[in-house]
Amino acid sequence: METGIFWAARSGTAIAALVCAALLSFNSTAFADGGPVWAYPVADKEQPPSPDGNIKARVPGSALTYQLKEIDNLFEPPIWFPEHNVGMPRVVQYGAAPAVRACAACHLTSGQGHPESGHIAGLSVNYFKRQMQDFRTGNRTDKVWMTAMARAMTDKDIDDAAQWFAKIKPIPWVKVVEADTIPKSYFNKSRKRLPLAEGGIEPLGERIAEFPQEPDRVLLRDPYAGFTAYVPKGSLAKGRELVTQGAGKTVMCAACHGVDLKGAGDIPRIAGVSPLYTVRQMFAFKTGTRKGAHATQMQPVIANLQEADITAIAAYLGSLAP
Ligand code: HEC
Ligand code: HEC
Repeated sequence: METGIFWAARSGTAIAALVCAALLSFNSTAFADGGPVWAYPVADKEQPPSPDGNIKARVPGSALTYQLKEIDNLFEPPIWFPEHNVGMPRVVQYGAAPAVRACAACHLTSGQGHPESGHIAGLSVNYFKRQMQDFRTGNRTDKVWMTAMARAMTDKDIDDAAQWFAKIKPIPWVKVVEADTIPKSYFNKSRKRLPLAEGGIEPLGERIAEFPQEPDRVLLRDPYAGFTAYVPKGSLAKGRELVTQGAGKTVMCAACHGVDLKGAGDIPRIAGVSPLYTVRQMFAFKTGTRKGAHATQMQPVIANLQEADITAIAAYLGSLAP
């Protein structure tokens, strides 16, 4: 591909980031759910100039070409590998205007998603539909997107999407690396963390920061382009102890999420997912913003966990095979 569309920037002017302006219209303070601000990506106010939307781009392995403005059309995102998506339901590919954007735009055709949204591949139909109902009723909240979209969706579209994504097998997606420092970065309009063109590093501190492994491919919505999550030193060992033994603070996750944490019945997979997504959910359970009938099972799990524990758990879970 024309790798370098976004990164031509590296040498000078700016990195490109492009998405529909609608994405800018949210209020950052509305998210935190009581969790640490670093887990809720928010677009930076100052954005580098976007590249020309007419530029054509490709991703590795696809025979297709799309213009950048087509790639950021949330009602018709790119289907880079149509041969992998035969029979894709209409709502997944096109959404249902005016309110419902194509699921594939944010969660990708692979259902793997980006850190600001999340993975939906391989979720059981029951769990998937329950989440959509919880978004509708307010038992679960995503003020940016899912609450409004779940309310606008028909039951048939929810069912089609649930059946479709349940059949997609999750793939390895996030590489977890313990680090003291990370590249200096900013959040683009679609809330993705990207390294600054001018380079430099900064301390990671007690946060988790996720970067695209290959920014160009991620910005082009390549369904097979994953992330690197930088996590504080020591998180993996600490997370492993909490997850596998409870460490006197919590309940062993495998009791409900399956021996390999890949899900059991309608209890979802927690292995191999974006650590930022996991942190947000753990805080949503902890503060009670995620309060569906089944979410109550997470209450004893979360009650005694502090932020550093949750960070470690999310890091360790992210490092496991999906
Ligand atoms: C514009 C971006 C966007 C689009 C389009 C989108 N989602 Fe989402 N989705 C999100 C975000 C953001 C979250 C919540 C992340 C969080 O809770 O931290 C989410 C979460 C979810 C979850 C919860 C996953 C879990 O593991 O519990 C489901 C299910 C879901 N979306 C289904 C859909 C369906 C079905 C569609 C298509 C109709 C869709 N989404 C379209 C952004 C999007
Ligand atoms: C007693 C059973 C039980 C135990 C033990 C348990 N969970 Fe859960 N967990 C659930 C259920 C049920 C759900 C789904 C809730 C819903 O439907 O909203 C869930 C959901 C989650 C989710 C949200 C996943 C998503 O895709 O949104 C995360 C993250 C999670 N659990 C993490 C953990 C961790 C980490 C542990 C161990 C420290 C753990 N759970 C132990 C029952 C349990």
